[in-house]
Amino acid sequence: MALIFSFLLLGINAFAADPEVSDSEEAIKAGESLFNANCKTCHKLDQKFTGPALRGVSDRRDIAWIQEFVKNSQKVIQSGDAAATKLFAEFNNTVMPAHPFLSDEDVMSLLSYIEYGGQEEAAPAEGGADGAAAGAASSGVPSEYLTIILAVLVVVLLLILIVLGLIVSVLTKYLNKQPLEEEDKEFINQKTDFKKVLKSDAFIIIVTAIVVALVAKTAIDGLYSVGVQQGYQPTQPIAFSHKLHAGDKEIPCQYCHTGVEIGRSANIPSPNICMNCHMHVQNVAGKEGVSPEIQKIYDAVDNNQPIEWVRVHNLPDLAYFNHSQHVKVGGIECQTCHGPIEEMEVVRQHSALTMGWCIDCHRKTDIKTAGNEYYDKLVQLHAESKDALKVKDIGGLECAKCHY
Ligand code: HEC
Ligand code: HEC
Ligand code: HEC
Ligand code: HEC
Ligand code: HEC
Ligand code: HEC
Repeated sequence: MALIFSFLLLGINAFAADPEVSDSEEAIKAGESLFNANCKTCHKLDQKFTGPALRGVSDRRDIAWIQEFVKNSQKVIQSGDAAATKLFAEFNNTVMPAHPFLSDEDVMSLLSYIEYGGQEEAAPAEGGADGAAAGAASSGVPSEYLTIILAVLVVVLLLILIVLGLIVSVLTKYLNKQPLEEEDKEFINQKTDFKKVLKSDAFIIIVTAIVVALVAKTAIDGLYSVGVQQGYQPTQPIAFSHKLHAGDKEIPCQYCHTGVEIGRSANIPSPNICMNCHMHVQNVAGKEGVSPEIQKIYDAVDNNQPIEWVRVHNLPDLAYFNHSQHVKVGGIECQTCHGPIEEMEVVRQHSALTMGWCIDCHRKTDIKTAGNEYYDKLVQLHAESKDALKVKDIGGLECAKCHY
């Protein structure tokens, strides 16, 4: 009996000794990098994402439960744990991948970050939609809004016209009932002669001018883009969205475009890279079954076939372009050349990719010489002139640098 009692006590002791979530800066930092590497694609701290919002999880669950769940959630679910099975069903049986490589301490650091970290993101996340609206506002008014505003203005103008028309007819009726001179009556009842207006020279001139201007603009735009594919936006075999992956999920470009920092080509990811996640993620959160678009990835992998992505950017063979030189050495952001890819549902060619475009940037752009021994000598030689070293000064305008 005493034995059982002491066991119970031990049990209670062990429970009471449940480790505390530390709020030390060190633990939060360690947790943050673990979180970014393993959890960020599915979890946010204060908002539901592919998985639940995590802040406060150490209040709703035992620490030991969390440690088990993070290391192997399926094991906990299959053991019949009530909370886990309920959560699993709530998230449409989305499987959270196992993290067997995480130690108990790692999970404790993760919890430090989850409970105390990322406070700056907590503020805008409060109202969810508010946060999104603020985000949109700070990045300028999107063009769809401008169209809507224009449409509203047109409707308002039409309403004003109708009201004015009504006022005119009411006034006319009223005045007709008054005892007035014949001349005044005639003036009141005169009709605007629309036929006359339509036939008038001024009207014809204005309309012709507008039509000519529109045609000319289209023609000029067309001429300038002969052979230039700017804006080219082909339909892809899978409805892959950069907005979703690179924007909403914040997956780094390099995760998929593995070549950008090491070589000439950026690389289009193979289906295996997609499978790192889509082994687990079979559909967008909240939808049942396997998404038909994601099914196409499974088919490609099963049949060992590549996905036939349509190339968007295409320099002619006579020109040589190297990504690592620009991204790694030059320190240029992808968006400088490719535009806001992380906002595009479907990729479109943002820049003209003409020779003039390359040269123009080489004339204007300073090279990053700091911390690059390769340039030390050049910088010395260049020291007499006061201008910063530009790409043109290292041969960026030489034909042979870009042409074979
Ligand atoms: C592929 C997406 C995915 C990844 C990556 C992921 N999770 Fe999850 N997580 C989920 C989903 C979905 C759930 C809801 C339960 C379920 O469906 O299994 C969940 C549930 C949880 C829960 C339980 C929350 C609660 O309210 O009880 C915790 C804790 C958790 N995850 C922590 C983590 C941590 C820590 C990491 C990184 C080491 C991580 N998750 C990585 C998808 C993911
Ligand atoms: C999850 C994987 C993934 C991520 C992350 C990703 N991409 Fe892509 N990217 C692709 C795939 C797949 C294609 C080919 C299909 C297409 O064009 O949409 C592609 C195509 C492109 C293209 C057009 C290539 C061509 O055909 O000329 C550009 C440019 C590009 N990505 C830039 C970026 C940038 C910049 C980022 C980061 C902001 C990024 N990508 C993040 C997977 C990814
Ligand atoms: C790092 C993780 C990750 C990688 C890598 C990844 N995805 Fe995704 N993808 C997701 C997540 C998470 C979702 C679901 C988003 C949601 O719940 O809204 C998703 C959604 C999708 C969807 C939307 C499905 C639908 O029905 O709307 C498509 C299509 C897709 N991914 C294709 C791809 C392709 C193709 C690749 C490889 C080039 C890829 N993904 C790589 C995480 C990833
Ligand atoms: C200085 C301008 C510039 C920058 C910066 C740049 N790109 Fe490119 N990118 C290009 C050009 C030009 C092409 C067309 C290359 C060709 O056809 O040979 C291209 C092509 C691509 C392609 C198609 C596949 C390929 O390699 O030809 C992808 C994917 C891509 N870029 C992704 C990226 C990503 C991701 C980044 C940032 C990490 C980036 N680019 C930065 C100019 C740039
Ligand atoms: C947004 C600016 C920008 C654009 C656009 C750009 N470049 Fe560059 N380029 C740079 C910078 C910066 C460097 C210098 C990198 C370094 O420090 O070596 C560079 C270097 C180069 C070099 C090496 C020059 C040398 O003397 O070592 C070549 C070749 C080159 N670019 C080709 C191209 C081609 C081809 C295009 C057009 C398809 C292009 N670049 C478009 C910024 C640009
Ligand atoms: C910074 C890179 C760069 C440099 C330097 C450069 N070019 Fe080009 N050039 C290109 C690119 C990219 C194209 C292809 C784009 C296009 O067709 O508009 C091109 C296209 C051409 C074409 C073919 C035009 C056509 O209509 O097909 C000729 C000819 C040419 N270059 C000659 C030269 C000569 C001569 C020099 C030296 C004075 C030179 N280039 C220097 C990048 C460069």
